[in-house]
Amino acid sequence: MFENVPAYAGDPILSLNEDFQRDPRGNKVNLSIGVYFDDVGRLPVMRAVQTVEASLLETAAPRSYLPMAGHAGYRDAAQALVFGENHDARRAGRIATLQTLGGSGALKVAADFLRRHVPDAQVWISDPSWENHRVVFEGAGLTVNTYPYYDAATGGLRFEAMRDAIDALPERSVVLLHACCHNPTGVDLNAEQWVELIPVLQRRKLIAFVDMAYQGFGAGLEEDAACVRKLADAGVPLIVASSFSKNFSLYGERCGALSVVCRDAEEAQRVLGQLTFAVRANYSNPPVHGAKLVAGVLSNPSLHSAWESELAEMRQRIKLMRGKIHDGLAGLVDDVLRARYVSQVGMFTYTGLSEQQVEKLRDEHAIYLLRSGRMCIAGLNQQNVGYVASAIASVAGKVGVAK
Ligand code: LMR
Repeated sequence: MFENVPAYAGDPILSLNEDFQRDPRGNKVNLSIGVYFDDVGRLPVMRAVQTVEASLLETAAPRSYLPMAGHAGYRDAAQALVFGENHDARRAGRIATLQTLGGSGALKVAADFLRRHVPDAQVWISDPSWENHRVVFEGAGLTVNTYPYYDAATGGLRFEAMRDAIDALPERSVVLLHACCHNPTGVDLNAEQWVELIPVLQRRKLIAFVDMAYQGFGAGLEEDAACVRKLADAGVPLIVASSFSKNFSLYGERCGALSVVCRDAEEAQRVLGQLTFAVRANYSNPPVHGAKLVAGVLSNPSLHSAWESELAEMRQRIKLMRGKIHDGLAGLVDDVLRARYVSQVGMFTYTGLSEQQVEKLRDEHAIYLLRSGRMCIAGLNQQNVGYVASAIASVAGKVGVAK
């Protein structure tokens, strides 16, 4: 029956992370998956989350099904965090927000919704983009194309080429944009570039689909969401996938949200209904525990501010590690390549290391990066940063790297 089923080649991120877990070497360093580790290499359980969890354990509430759209308090808190408590669209009830299975679940529900209700729309993602964007959209039956984004020569953004390509797209195309901490390059649009891009999206009648998986890991919670709020202000048709995996360190709880900004409250109700239908068709309803943790923290002012401070510490530690590896590579690799460690933002840096160099790092030094050369800076710490810098120097050499 299944004799023709081909072997799964594996996922470039998740399978590699599984390989890392199995690697018996004591000096191994995980710079592959987008997960924040603390300075002793542990996955943090945030203090505010622990407080809410302790009180949940005490009450031992029954585990009934959540509504298909998710936990009401969670949905409201997720929307407020993305758009700001007092955003006009939020006050007007124009945003349909539902709880999803992580950011990936939000992408999938939105992709199913688009396939059904805007069936002629094609999706445009940045070149490069998160490895799973194409997989999710194509899996839902949508055609995926790319627009220019990363400049390998400078380690920066090809903004003019990006803007011009978007300016030439057919109406109702879906443009996937990263709000902050671009995955995999760490290269974001600056505020002026957003101001220039938004009217293009509007004039060309395009649908902006913003993926915001790293809110709080760039410049700050408000700053990282500024582009989303500007898009909503401008009245661009807007879909936002957001996630608490990273900024609440709740990866396995699958806490995400999907928001669609509509013309009015009545349209938002219809859109919410169809998104709910997509949830039912995929997994019926989302899990309850993580939603209660997030809602519990965000609805309590003192826990909310404790969470923000802890998140700020995480953000600052990443910055510190960027500086450390940049300094550690001084005189060892080309300065142009070294500059990326500090010019790029968020969890990731696109090192420019070739596939062979990445392979050497893994085989000879037990250091794991993605095949694309993406490094998760949040896997660096005071103990391993020197080791990683000298290993990179040994595989890349002063002459620089291949791409
Ligand atoms: C990543 O890019 O490493 C993370 O978003 C984890 C994932 O699911 O790929």
